[in-house]
Amino acid sequence: MTLVLLTLYFIFQSFIPIIFGNVHINPCRGYCGNLTIDYPFALQSGCGHPGFRELLFCMNDVLMFHISSGSYRVLDIDYAYQALTLHDPHLSTCDSIFLGGKGNGFVVEPWRAPYLNPVPDNVFMLIGCSAQSPLFQGFPSKHLPCHNVSGMGCEEYYDCPAWSIVGPKRLGLSSPPECCSMSYEAIKSINLSKLECEGYASAYSLAPLRLEGPHEWSYGIRVKYSVQRNDASCRACEASGGSCGYDTGEVRPVCLCKGWNSTSNCDSVAVDITTVAAID
Ligand SMILES: *[C@@H]1O[C@H](CO)[C@@H](O)[C@H](O)[C@H]1NC(C)=O
Ligand SMILES: *[C@@H]1O[C@H](CO)[C@@H](O)[C@H](O)[C@H]1NC(C)=O
Ligand SMILES: *[C@@H]1O[C@H](CO)[C@@H](O)[C@H](O)[C@H]1NC(C)=O
Ligand SMILES: *[C@@H]1O[C@H](CO)[C@@H](O)[C@H](O)[C@H]1NC(C)=O
Repeated sequence: MTLVLLTLYFIFQSFIPIIFGNVHINPCRGYCGNLTIDYPFALQSGCGHPGFRELLFCMNDVLMFHISSGSYRVLDIDYAYQALTLHDPHLSTCDSIFLGGKGNGFVVEPWRAPYLNPVPDNVFMLIGCSAQSPLFQGFPSKHLPCHNVSGMGCEEYYDCPAWSIVGPKRLGLSSPPECCSMSYEAIKSINLSKLECEGYASAYSLAPLRLEGPHEWSYGIRVKYSVQRNDASCRACEASGGSCGYDTGEVRPVCLCKGWNSTSNCDSVAVDITTVAAID
């Protein structure tokens, strides 16, 4: 008996995506340029996960990411690794250093912080910070909070051609240093004006091997996103032909079904089969 029910269950399970997959067009999925926008992200209000609401905007096929520190261009959304790659036009790289405090840095709204964080092996290199910067307060001069992150840091960054343009300073020897590298974890907010820094660079490495030097690093901000507990309920919603969204009033997740909204999923038949199969 159990075997028959389980077999039926698996048959239904494999048919549901076929039946609904062809008919149902996910109203929440979208594109911007060549980037696919899918759960937990969305371009429309009411779609996606509420932690990512009012975050992405598509303008002339360019996907923009907006948080309290400013707007960034999204270069990539890696759904498998749950990561976004961002670009800030005033982000310093190996070829150019932008001073004047125009860079965004990286500061997220406190309510969004559980959902978005730069990856632990993304290095932030703060450039031209004043001696009065909060970065350098409370540390004996030989023990500044500046550290390499995954083999990337200012010592290596100084080898970039951009530094020869900025000028031959006593690189690494001046106090405070011209550049101070750290992970996002170390300070939780890269606010250039608060930290009294002139500019910043940010780099990450996707290669499992140690890279030759700073010209091989990828410049940009690599951000990890997480949806925490809601992932399973979203999968159940999508399996029933719904689209994952949220109630714009109360900001709680809902399953957007054809013509109605459900707090679980669109397909009561699928729920019954699951319930029967669970009884043995
Ligand atoms: C998307 O387009 C950009 C240029 O606009 C290109 O650099 C990038 O490689 C493309 N990405 C994919 C995944 O095709
Ligand atoms: C379902 O929820 C979405 C998003 O909150 C809303 O735009 C839509 O009007 C709702 N539909 C119904 C039928 O309540
Ligand atoms: C950055 O710090 C400055 C000065 O403390 C503050 O006025 C500003 O609101 C902060 N910016 C963000 C995005 O938190
Ligand atoms: C880390 O930084 C130090 C200087 O503080 C440098 O000498 C060293 O080579 C760096 N280590 C790695 C693994 O990049």
